[in-house]
Amino acid sequence: MLALSLAPHPSGSSVERDLTSDRQWNPWRLSVAPMMDWTDRHCRHFHRLLSRHTRLYTEMVTTGALLHGDVPRHLDFGPEEHPVALQLGGSEPEDLAACAKLGERWGYDEINLNCGCPSERVQRGAFGACLMAEPDLVADGVKAMRDAVGIPVTVKHRIGIDRTESYGFVRDFIGTVAAAGCEVFIVHARNAWLKGLSPKENRELPPLRHEWVYRLKRDFPALTIVLNGGVKTHDEIATHLAQVDGVMLGREAYHHPWLMADWDVRFFGDAPLERDRADIEAAMVRYMELQRLQGEPWSRVSRHMLGLWSGMSGARRWRQVWSDHRLKNEPPEVVSALARRRPTVDEVAAAA
Ligand SMILES: Cc1cc2nc3c(=O)[nH]c(=O)nc-3n(C[C@H](O)[C@H](O)[C@H](O)COP(=O)(O)O)c2cc1C
Repeated sequence: MLALSLAPHPSGSSVERDLTSDRQWNPWRLSVAPMMDWTDRHCRHFHRLLSRHTRLYTEMVTTGALLHGDVPRHLDFGPEEHPVALQLGGSEPEDLAACAKLGERWGYDEINLNCGCPSERVQRGAFGACLMAEPDLVADGVKAMRDAVGIPVTVKHRIGIDRTESYGFVRDFIGTVAAAGCEVFIVHARNAWLKGLSPKENRELPPLRHEWVYRLKRDFPALTIVLNGGVKTHDEIATHLAQVDGVMLGREAYHHPWLMADWDVRFFGDAPLERDRADIEAAMVRYMELQRLQGEPWSRVSRHMLGLWSGMSGARRWRQVWSDHRLKNEPPEVVSALARRRPTVDEVAAAA
């Protein structure tokens, strides 16, 4: 459990004050979703500068990649990233157990099993969302991982696959997997259509059914139930938190990361960040300098922070400078100064 300062911040609204009442927070209260190609360690470093308590997830790492590939490349992370969970993709209980063990040894706080990814590539490997059709196999995997590690083993899944429109399907899935010892379920509140839709369409087209996630919490009050899918605002987070234990945000947190700067105060009752966007950018520039010394180009880091100034005047130009690969040999400090410089009259005219 997190040990936090529980004093509500004076700026909190009455809803927020209710949320910051005297209790220990569920460690899954707020999290940023695992996202392939997005939530790598640089992204998580950036997100951690915005919120101390939000739980962060890695991209999915397959058991094959860990058992036969470059383990440090997949697993290395910075100590500042805690609490941080490793998401695994796989279905063989023995492989999952070996990889969970690796993750625990590497210092992760949780092992999460992906039962929600609909991509064809993942289906060919017989894992991801198609595992929802095999709850016994998922239960065996969870049991094997739980036997292998002392950290929590959790499952992220959908509410159904293909055109199944039955609440009983997801309820029974959770029932079976919970019987194997899983206590935390992260529910992306839409079906995965395994045929005919790309992964991107699968995050947009099947309808969201948040009500089903609320119902799961009512049916399994002892489990931690985290709602995911389509959440965008603080008010929506607050509404869901009144019904379930946690909320996970993916795209909105990535594209509008400044949203997270309020979370420690609003949802964890902690002191404000006392950093503005410019401070965060400066901290990222220092981080990019350190990364550059280790041979990592700054563009691999900066791509994750392009939403930092989103909605503010000059944001578009700032984003363009940080995405300009012609500047790749410049030190990040120089790029930052260029990005923050007021445009000249000629530049304004050219952009008009
Ligand atoms: C670019 C991208 C990559 C994703 N990769 C993964 C992944 O590796 N594992 C996973 O469980 N979900 C993955 N997802 C799904 C998200 O974790 C999340 O469930 C989904 O985006 C719905 O949440 P949102 O509406 O808040 O974005 C990915 C989503 C996006 C946008």
